[in-house]
Amino acid sequence: MELDRMDRRTPVPLSPHMALHQKQNMRDHLEAIQAIIAGLAKQDFPAIEAAAARMGFSKEMEGMCQRMGAGAPGFSDRAIKFHKTADEIAVYARKKDEKGVLDSLNRTLAQCVSCHATYRQQIVAAGTSSTLIERLNSSK
Ligand code: HEC
Repeated sequence: MELDRMDRRTPVPLSPHMALHQKQNMRDHLEAIQAIIAGLAKQDFPAIEAAAARMGFSKEMEGMCQRMGAGAPGFSDRAIKFHKTADEIAVYARKKDEKGVLDSLNRTLAQCVSCHATYRQQIVAAGTSSTLIERLNSSK
């Protein structure tokens, strides 16, 4: 509660289950970034492509981002833009374009940084309706 008041970032209301799921996805994103860097160090472009694909855009990913961001304006759009930027890493890796990989990796990381600076998780009871979530948000 106290942390909730001190942290001025925009809350993303999530049930405990969804919050856990989001954090698992996030740790997977971090692992993918590490695998991309490891691939760069070894000039292993197929490994870079495979790691980038773990963060890439898909219809399933889009649906999940929309559910996660349902109570936080702008969150889903950022999330989808992030996945599409990660896809560019894979495109450059396929071309064995190291500079392109680094540029798109930088643009991807910039989106991790700016989303974290803007949003935080807010745990709400499972099954909380989106109207209640909206009211919680507007009372902040
Ligand atoms: C669209 C928004 C968004 C993007 C893009 C994003 N994150 Fe996150 N991430 C979050 C939110 C929200 C949290 C929860 C933070 C909180 O509540 O303080 C989080 C948490 C995390 C955590 C903590 C996980 C845990 O177990 O506590 C890690 C690690 C992380 N993100 C890594 C990344 C990496 C790496 C990227 C980019 C490759 C990334 N994230 C991109 C929104 C985002």
